[in-house]
Amino acid sequence: MTQTLAAMRREYARDGLTEEQAPAEPFELFRKWFEQAVKTEQLPVEANSMVLATVDQDGRPHCRVLLLKGLDDQGFTFFTNYDSAKGQQLAVNPFAAMTFFWPALERQVRIEGRVERVTPQESDAYYQVRPLGSRLGAWASPQSQVIADRAELEGLLKSTEQRFSDAQPHCPEHWGGYRLLPERIEFWQGRPSRLHDRLNYRLQDNVWQRERLAP
Ligand SMILES: Cc1cc2nc3c(=O)[nH]c(=O)nc-3n(C[C@H](O)[C@H](O)[C@H](O)COP(=O)(O)O)c2cc1C
Repeated sequence: MTQTLAAMRREYARDGLTEEQAPAEPFELFRKWFEQAVKTEQLPVEANSMVLATVDQDGRPHCRVLLLKGLDDQGFTFFTNYDSAKGQQLAVNPFAAMTFFWPALERQVRIEGRVERVTPQESDAYYQVRPLGSRLGAWASPQSQVIADRAELEGLLKSTEQRFSDAQPHCPEHWGGYRLLPERIEFWQGRPSRLHDRLNYRLQDNVWQRERLAP
């Protein structure tokens, strides 16, 4: 097993990332890379999937896969249960990091910054375009809590369906979006012999500074 792992090696030679290709601010480059990822990545990779890392009150990190559901000039939005483990971690420590990995493009993007809740109106607007099953699930599932078995979850869903049998479910207060406001965005392009390109954008006094990092 260890030998197999040591021998697992892929050479990255698809593309490069030069300073000339990189705009002065990072959102434009993220949008360009994201559009290319949507076109190039094949299912099961979802181009908008990323890993979100949060830190709990004891300073311990936790990460999990989430889907990016919004991008505007302020930041990167995802939706979840505010009472979940990540919700509780963000309540005590509002700083987070998200990492996108687009293997077909041999690219990684790392984004770090403060996280804040989106407005209830924004959460509701997204909630309303979700399929009915997902809308009911947001009510039924006490995300991150221990449950006895699958039957308990199915029971919770059944009672939620009954509760909303005559009315469309509205967005629960415990469910909604968070927006990560980036202070750092790093673009990584795989290159041969592990001499990868890393262009890092840092927000300093409200101005994006760009620098190259050693791979
Ligand atoms: C591909 C994929 C997409 C996911 N998208 C979301 C999402 O958008 N929101 C969410 O709350 N959980 C999502 N999850 C589940 C999370 O990884 C995680 O299990 C859940 O949010 C509970 O995390 P927590 O206990 O750390 O709060 C997704 C999982 C996978 C594998």
